[in-house]
Amino acid sequence: MLANDFTKAMEFRHACKLFDETKKIDTQTIKSILEIGRLSPSSFGMEPWKFLLITNQKLKEKLRPLCWNQLQITSCSHLVIILAAIERVKPSSGIPQKMFARRDLPQEKIDAYIKLYGEFLADTFASDEKTFAWTSKQCYIAAANMMTGAASFGVDSCAIEGFEKEKVEKLLELNTKEYQVALILPFGYRVNPQPQKVRLDYDEIIEEIL
Ligand SMILES: Cc1cc2nc3c(=O)[nH]c(=O)nc-3n(C[C@H](O)[C@H](O)[C@H](O)COP(=O)(O)O)c2cc1C
Repeated sequence: MLANDFTKAMEFRHACKLFDETKKIDTQTIKSILEIGRLSPSSFGMEPWKFLLITNQKLKEKLRPLCWNQLQITSCSHLVIILAAIERVKPSSGIPQKMFARRDLPQEKIDAYIKLYGEFLADTFASDEKTFAWTSKQCYIAAANMMTGAASFGVDSCAIEGFEKEKVEKLLELNTKEYQVALILPFGYRVNPQPQKVRLDYDEIIEEIL
């Protein structure tokens, strides 16, 4: 297997269960991690996300019981809550048209994109539930990039899906017509060494079709 800085970051990253509360991530580093999220790819370039950055310890303490009481929530240095966009990805909001118009394309190409977008995703936009299913998938791509990106700076993380979505949204006073919580990402520095990686063998999950 070839190894480079990326594969080293993949090895370094693990689901950190407890962060060192005395170690804080410096501003430039956390900004760089969030920038990696911002640069992530998204379907039709809609960037259907928003990242809430939380350092307020009192808020973290309120969130923890809503997140299966997981210690990562309060011990982390920075908590990032990834929100999946709902309203602004729908053509009826007028925003997808603006997102397409940012590109250096002739107007007829932009019009063709908007038409394709609206038709291809008509069923998705029929309900907020389906819209969330589509946009949250993309939030996970940004999340993966941020976790590996963090690892490349020697910063630990843990994806947190174990939370009570509606209660977290209520605590954060979110308008769920606009945004819903996709995933929670605590970042910080590990207390304990990472456990041995357990993964299926290469041949069990890679099937070459000739
Ligand atoms: C979408 C997602 C949700 C997860 N949710 C949690 C969680 O709520 N709490 C937790 O401790 N780990 C959570 N994990 C971490 C996984 O359990 C972990 O990635 C997996 O067991 C592999 O271990 P590793 O990341 O240390 O290699 C989550 C991982 C992913 C990708």
